[in-house]
Amino acid sequence: MKILLFGGSFSPVHSEHVRIAKEAQKALQAEKLIVIPAAVSPFKTKADLPVENCSQVLPSDADRLAMLRLAFADFSHTEISDYEICCGGTSYSYTTCAHFRSLYPKDELYFLIGSDSFYSFPQWKYPERIVNDVRLAVIRRSEENLDERSLQAFAERFHTLPTCIDFSTTGISSTQVRTLLSLGADASGLLPKAVQDYILQRGLYRIDLLVQALALEKENRRAHSVRVAVTATEHAKRFRISPQKALVAAGLHDCAKNLALDDKKLFGFIPPEGVPESVMHQYSGAYLAEKFGIRDTDILNAVRYHTSGRPDMSDLEKLIYLADMTEAGRHYPGVDEIRAAFDRDLNEAMRIALQRTLAFLRETGSSIYPLSLQAYEYYKND
Ligand SMILES: [Fe+2]
Ligand SMILES: [Fe+2]
Repeated sequence: MKILLFGGSFSPVHSEHVRIAKEAQKALQAEKLIVIPAAVSPFKTKADLPVENCSQVLPSDADRLAMLRLAFADFSHTEISDYEICCGGTSYSYTTCAHFRSLYPKDELYFLIGSDSFYSFPQWKYPERIVNDVRLAVIRRSEENLDERSLQAFAERFHTLPTCIDFSTTGISSTQVRTLLSLGADASGLLPKAVQDYILQRGLYRIDLLVQALALEKENRRAHSVRVAVTATEHAKRFRISPQKALVAAGLHDCAKNLALDDKKLFGFIPPEGVPESVMHQYSGAYLAEKFGIRDTDILNAVRYHTSGRPDMSDLEKLIYLADMTEAGRHYPGVDEIRAAFDRDLNEAMRIALQRTLAFLRETGSSIYPLSLQAYEYYKND
């Protein structure tokens, strides 16, 4: 019998996981699928710790198992295994593969991995043992060919080749799904219906403070803020920025955008002098964020300078500034150049983004806030 092993953290399991399993099972003609959620600690690093006053209910191991059972309910011959969860601690693939080999000594076992994992596979713990126990099945995005030299090196070292499975990705990521859920935004297209219902019933991932802040924004603005949060959290990891801080700062960055300065929610706010109207909401927003209970100075500054920028910004400040300018709903000449730079280097992206903003303000005859000029001077020569 052909058996497909599919591991991951599945927090939460989303539609693309289900589609990957379905297509791999079909391509390999596997008679059985075993889904193996990893044992994960709720907070992998200090950077994952919740921001003060922004707590959220993260799924327990039992929740992840329950969500997987719902997601794969339509699959026949499928087992959701609690093997790695019961082992606890760090899950190593070599022990998992050895475990299932001992359960199925005579069967053909396939172990599903992504192409990124294929390239890092030689650095895994005891990779020889893994290929001894199972055959690797690599999910290959359409039109992506695995690097010939890596394949050759793999064949020389392990005396076997992985089986490739072509897959056209829709680009859904667990980070994106978690971001939407924490903001109370619609993630229905990204999750199996039963999984979404389960999450909503238990209030998993949701951060009430952010949901309340977004409720102050008009519908279009709220959709923009959600896209800023998705962009910011997806870029946070690359620049080693806390994804939690990125999420909170992005979720709050425009919280005062639709509030008049005399709105009672801004009671006590003293508008700084000489600030153009289009910029003022960064200051009123930071004031409101503090009233919401945010104490983290970096988050408050990311809100406070998200429109103007300033010299010598923190990485979180730059992240929010750039996510605001490049979220998927932004369409203006030059946005792709900023996006490309944002994928590489924060300072380079700041220079291009500030240059573009100043040029736009000059073209339209709008007033230029001195802090933006100072920011550009700073990043121009960086
Ligand atoms: Fe803004
Ligand atoms: Fe914004």
